[in-house]
Order: sequence, then C-alpha cells, then structure tokens
Amino acid sequence: MTTPSTELELVPVGLSHAEVLAALYSESFETPWSAQAFSDLLSQRTVGGWIVGRSEPTGFILIQTSGGESEILTLVVAQPHRRGGIARHLVTQAIAKAKADGALAFHLEVAEDNAAAIALYEGLEFAPTGRRPGYYAKTEGAVDAILMTKPLAPAIT
Ligand SMILES: CC(C)(COP(=O)(O)OP(=O)(O)OC[C@H]1O[C@@H](n2cnc3c(N)ncnc32)[C@H](O)[C@@H]1OP(=O)(O)O)[C@@H](O)C(=O)NCCC(=O)NCCS
Repeated sequence: MTTPSTELELVPVGLSHAEVLAALYSESFETPWSAQAFSDLLSQRTVGGWIVGRSEPTGFILIQTSGGESEILTLVVAQPHRRGGIARHLVTQAIAKAKADGALAFHLEVAEDNAAAIALYEGLEFAPTGRRPGYYAKTEGAVDAILMTKPLAPAIT
C-alpha cells in the first residue's frame, strides 16, 4: 500500500550517511559501492539528496546539479519497502529541488532490463533520449543503459 508522502520523513543526506547509503546500495545492486565512494560523492558541492527515515532508513536518492542541468546519480528503495510510493516521492522531491536550483533538464541512466525503474520514470514524464550499449556489466552479460530526460519549466519565484 502506498504510504502518503506526508508520512515519509526525508532527511538531507550528509557525510554521516555514507555507511548506510553503501549498505542500502549494496543490497540492491550487483556491484557494491563502498562507504568511501559515497563519502567522495557527498564531498562534492554539486551533489545532494535525501534519505528516507532516520531510525530505519528505507531508501535514498542522490542527485547532481550543475550547469543548468540535474541528474540522478543513484536511487534505491530497500526491498521490503518497495511499491509503497517511496521512489516516486524521492524523485518528485529531487525534481522540485532541481527546478528551484534553476535546472532546465533532469537526466538519468537506467538499465534496459530494469522494468520497475523505467515504469517509475515514465510515470514521472521522463522520455528516452539515447542509449549506451553494454554500459552495465552484469553476471548474465552486459546490459545497455537507456538515457532519459525530463525538461523542466523554470520555477516561478
Ligand atoms: C526502482 C525502485 C527504486 C522503485 O522503488 P519503489 O519505492 O518501489 O517505487 P514506487 O513504489 O514509488 O513506484 C512508483 C511507480 O514505479 C513503477 N514501479 C515500481 N516498481 C515496479 C515494479 N516492480 N514493476 C513495475 N512497475 C514498478 C510503477 O509505475 C509505480 O507506480 P504504481 O505503484 O502506482 O504502479 C526500486 O524497485 C529499487 O530500489 N530497485 C533497485 C535499485 C534500482 O533499480 N534503482 C533505480 C536505478 S535507475
């Protein structure tokens, strides 16, 4: 059942979250990212995001905004908490922040075989704009990345 977005506690990510981000990421992807890799990312001025829940983190998104464009670096929802609207809420929050920061386009890359993520992004009006052949190395063989973009109207201030 979808959790009302008002009940989801979104906490801005910081360096102190590096370990928990690495744990959530490594549960969901074949190739783990270390806590050090997340620390390095989070040390960049252009990188930010949100983690859901303080006591029991259930998901997170990292985005990068620079040069008038934003991109999703990674997005994960822990398995037991999926299909509850957490990812949609995180991406919606990221889009709002990107607009507020003056971004005019939001980009992402997604594995061609990741039907759940593609459906999520299509539902939020991202459209395919390109393909990177063999971008993801997986045990069953390389998988193409689909590039998707959502144009953003400037925020009215
Ligand atoms: C992809 C992922 C982030 C979705 O998270 P989630 O919180 O379960 O997604 P939501 O509940 O917000 O779903 C929003 C929409 O996405 C689509 N969707 C999500 N999971 C889906 C699935 N398993 N099958 C088909 N569509 C799915 C649906 O359109 C859904 O809307 P609906 O529930 O009204 O039908 C999650 O499955 C995940 O962490 N996967 C592993 C990591 C990953 O692939 N990250 C994305 C990398 S690009």
